[in-house]
Amino acid sequence: MYSDILRDNIFPNMLVSANFDDSIDRSILVPEMEKIMGENPNDKKYSNEGGYHSPGYWHTRSDNPMLEKLAATALKFVYGELNHINWDFDKLRVYYWFMVNELNNYNTIHQHGTSDIIGVYYAEIPEDTGDLNIIRNDGISYSSLFCKNYQDKFRLKPEAGRFYMMPGHLWHFVGANPTNKRRMCVAFNFLEFFPDPLR
Ligand SMILES: [Fe+2]
Repeated sequence: MYSDILRDNIFPNMLVSANFDDSIDRSILVPEMEKIMGENPNDKKYSNEGGYHSPGYWHTRSDNPMLEKLAATALKFVYGELNHINWDFDKLRVYYWFMVNELNNYNTIHQHGTSDIIGVYYAEIPEDTGDLNIIRNDGISYSSLFCKNYQDKFRLKPEAGRFYMMPGHLWHFVGANPTNKRRMCVAFNFLEFFPDPLR
């Protein structure tokens, strides 16, 4: 009836994660985050509904030793992944901040502006807390066939000590923390330096 079927997985997307426990000591990182919380008022409101949102920092311009080590590790990991898929890229700038969600706190759906790649690292996460939901935002999200077959969204259960990277344009939200234990995560924006417009 037919022959020579060719199947191409076109427009695939990346969601890559790795455990950073070999590089990042969370027993040092968490007190560093608590110190920042004590020194900076909780007056920032972005996607967070309740909870704490820290100031933001450009990597290499802050004096938070473990957060800086985490940012350096995350950047190295992102470079490694881009090299792994043989992509052409210039240097990336890294901006980061952290959030603490306590009982019933959550993050509304949002995306990270013009960031090329975004990342999130979980410093503390209770069992049975809210999932990270990633929403596809191209035309496929208007197709009942594709949505019925879960091509428009992806949900994952974050793990402590693990870093996740994905394209920056994707919308995402984090479900409410239904526990009395806090959820602490560090978020990252990776932005390519303005590339040579003539290349
Ligand atoms: Fe986000």
